[in-house]
Amino acid sequence: MTNTNSRVFNFSAGPAVLPEVVLEQIQSEMLSLPGVGSSVLEISHRSKDFDEILNDATSRIADLTNLPDTHEVLFLQGGSALQNVMMPMNFLTEKSQTADVIVTGAWGKKTAAEVSRFGNLNIAWDGNDSSYNKVPKQDELQLTPNAAYCHLTSNETIQGVKYWDLPETGDVPLLVDKSSDLFSEPIDIEKYGLIYACAQKNAGIAGVNVLILKKELLDRCDDRLPSYLDYSKHSKAGSRFNTPPTFAIYVTGLVCKWLQEEKGGLASISQFNQDKASLLYNEIDQSNGFYSGHAAKDDRSIMNVVFTLKTEDLETQFLTEATQAGLTTLKGHRSLGGIRASIYNAMPIEGVESLAQFMADFARKNG
Ligand SMILES: Cc1ncc(COP(=O)(O)O)c(C=O)c1O
Repeated sequence: MTNTNSRVFNFSAGPAVLPEVVLEQIQSEMLSLPGVGSSVLEISHRSKDFDEILNDATSRIADLTNLPDTHEVLFLQGGSALQNVMMPMNFLTEKSQTADVIVTGAWGKKTAAEVSRFGNLNIAWDGNDSSYNKVPKQDELQLTPNAAYCHLTSNETIQGVKYWDLPETGDVPLLVDKSSDLFSEPIDIEKYGLIYACAQKNAGIAGVNVLILKKELLDRCDDRLPSYLDYSKHSKAGSRFNTPPTFAIYVTGLVCKWLQEEKGGLASISQFNQDKASLLYNEIDQSNGFYSGHAAKDDRSIMNVVFTLKTEDLETQFLTEATQAGLTTLKGHRSLGGIRASIYNAMPIEGVESLAQFMADFARKNG
């Protein structure tokens, strides 16, 4: 049950599967970029050739997201973990200011944990009581009227919970961790103050963080900050404050090109992702309780499908047999257990069909 190149179907949560055509292009250009005569790994980040790579990746992101003039794209390092620190550092300029954080899972919890170092933390909602299986309704949120910002995680990668409808926060800028669902669906950038995503799930490889930032927020950045941690310094330097992760930016550009040219953009990939996720959720729902989905139905992620079986032994058997069938990396996160199938943009439909069939067969034999 492997695909044509005997590559397995890899359901890793990240770093995760890449489109095969992207891997092939990287391979074919590895020794020499067309017209350059050197590998992308060997050229200066200040060269004209890298200018083209950076501009190309930026303009493809702008095209995919219909980027308005009010916002700009930045490429930073340090993963989403560093963003959790940079947000409060930059935007809580006084200790008396408050950041609202909506905690819908493990990543939101980590974001919240960094805030109090720099200012007041207000947990606007916390899904702990329901094991982080849902997102709040607007009237459940305890928002602070003059908060410096409100943060949420649009797709909780570990719990498989998706924030489908953004909350209304008035004039308070919405800062969103989109690490595991950026580019999975059309996006209305105007609603966001800041979007950030580590690329290794849906936008490329580890090493680069894609940011889309509302320019007017740059005026709020605390100018006492160490330069490297100041968004406005990175903005002024056009993502080249220091040597950027050149190879990772190149790969993000190729992934965006694949999305535009082979997948028909974000509306079309969104339908593809819905179709893939439905195959797995249908197996869960039709299994008479053999499989139990973690997320509440309305808040199900279409990127990370998280479920359990009745016993840990059965889960171990499921994982062993799935691996033998060429369906790998399905083990749930160590904090939650169970099974997690990460089915980002680049997971082919054949991989999900194989997994759905495997789930049906496994339930029939062991139910
Ligand atoms: C939603 C979310 N936020 C943050 C992170 C952390 O990203 P990084 O390891 O790049 O710091 C992850 C990665 O697993 C994630 O899924």
